[in-house]
Amino acid sequence: MTLTNHVRVTARLALLGIIFFVPTTLLADSGPPAAGIASANKQATAVGFEILQQGGNAFDAAVAVSAALSVVEPESSGLGGGGFFLLHRANDGKSTFIDAREKAPLAATREMYLDASGNPQRGKSVNGALAAAIPGLPAGLVMVAERYGKLPLKQSLAPAIRLARNGYVWSAKNASMIGFRKDQLATSPAAAKLFLRDAQAPAVGQRMRNPDIARVLERMAKQGHRGYYEGATADALVNGVSAAGGLWTLEDFKQYQAVEREPLHFRYLDQDIYTAPPPSSGGIALVGLFNILGGFPLASFERVPRLHVEIEAMRRVYRDRSIYLGDPDFVTMPIDMLLSPYYAAGLRASIHTKMATPSDSLPGISATPEGNDTSHFSIIDTEGNVAAVTQSVNLPFGAAFVAPGTGFVINNEMDDFSLKPGVPNAYGLIGEDANAIAPGKRPLSSMTPTILLGKDRVAAIGGPGGSRIITMVFQGLSMLLDGKTALEAVSAPRIHHQYQPDNVSSEPGALSEAEIAALNARGYTMAPAERPWGNMQVVLWDKRKGTVEAASDPRWKAVGGGESRDKDMIFR
Ligand code: DON
Repeated sequence: MTLTNHVRVTARLALLGIIFFVPTTLLADSGPPAAGIASANKQATAVGFEILQQGGNAFDAAVAVSAALSVVEPESSGLGGGGFFLLHRANDGKSTFIDAREKAPLAATREMYLDASGNPQRGKSVNGALAAAIPGLPAGLVMVAERYGKLPLKQSLAPAIRLARNGYVWSAKNASMIGFRKDQLATSPAAAKLFLRDAQAPAVGQRMRNPDIARVLERMAKQGHRGYYEGATADALVNGVSAAGGLWTLEDFKQYQAVEREPLHFRYLDQDIYTAPPPSSGGIALVGLFNILGGFPLASFERVPRLHVEIEAMRRVYRDRSIYLGDPDFVTMPIDMLLSPYYAAGLRASIHTKMATPSDSLPGISATPEGNDTSHFSIIDTEGNVAAVTQSVNLPFGAAFVAPGTGFVINNEMDDFSLKPGVPNAYGLIGEDANAIAPGKRPLSSMTPTILLGKDRVAAIGGPGGSRIITMVFQGLSMLLDGKTALEAVSAPRIHHQYQPDNVSSEPGALSEAEIAALNARGYTMAPAERPWGNMQVVLWDKRKGTVEAASDPRWKAVGGGESRDKDMIFR
């Protein structure tokens, strides 16, 4: 059964009174007292407030913040990548999802990254022109502005154009991410010119200008979708990528469209939660986690037994991700089964209460980098409109390739496909046919922008982190459901399990020595990480307290910006 059928299916489940997936309308009595914006870069957060001040709504601000991040945080996302925009409109309670995920070029083939013996050549799917899928973010910006914004696109793009022309401040995060991709960036002359100084990262605090991206944004400001997908921008991208051995054609650009989809909706503890549908795996996995864990009396569990069931739930939903999920426009997925509480009950019953289940013992197909790329931002305006947006170029600086004259890196999102069944991608994720490469297909994503519409609390949450995004959003959302603050949710140390590799990773401080030993004794392979991961951005409107809190992950505290401003401050 396809996704489009799931509402009907879940509505039937709703009649049984077990769990509801029927979209409900939740209208705020009156708007929040303040607007909140949390993004991975202060300069982008400021741009969002500038647009609110000009009379824009949260969706105009989302367009402005997204475009600004393309300029000031080029390592994480941008006009050469894609993203998901999850939006909630206050006046009619509508929630919607703009899928601006990249698509495989029409000339892509299933075997394009395999060598003569059928083994994936990872270098080709992560480095340079061949690694890139057709960008979707520009189409997403235009669609969000046209369908949901109040201001003309031109106005929402203006601050990003100004940052590119007048200069933005190079951050500690920009510089640190160059470290991962310096050698590869050096092989693309246009990338080196933009992002390297004497083959090194530019000094932190330096003012950086990018007139090329300003011109691309100006074309979009003037011509909308066509300003990117036709004419000078499309020509420069296709020529630059082709000259470097990539497969892009003008036809790919002509055909690219963002897609508006119904978000995934579920209820947990009487609260409405909206999240990302396929081609993200995030929402389905998130529902699975809550469905499995909702059947345990978690509140009465000690810490180690609770960690035990959480890890087992993570293992099981990532297994399903690897087997079943892909682009909904290409594959038929058992969505109703995956969302069903009965299915979750079966998975729950398969959890041994004292011992780890080895991943290899589950029926199915037989070292993950830290995640700081990709960018999430969350916005709530004073009318109660909410935007949760996650956008990406995949690995730091994407394919580390810039087509001459464009001013932005292109993504290496092709690596999110399963190059070969069972062979892990850059995040250690494995996949099956459902996520095999096909022309025009969207690679499966883990990006999980999520909106909580509770009676007392409204929040937007999300973050980068590759495969870890889903478990991160799950842990953060659980804390928000538990009454914790936005700052607590973004700060708490995280744990992660993703089925394969079959180990439990944890951030420094997430687990005590005793907990690690106890989990070890239950049969878990523990893989504590040396460095933290993620860069979560949360806004939270607490209706009972009458407060709006915007919290940016403290892991990058000098760079990110989480701020709320009262109505009088915005409309002074
Ligand atoms: O769409 C995805 O799931 C990945 N391309 C996200 C990559 C990411 O989060 C990078 N940050 N670590």
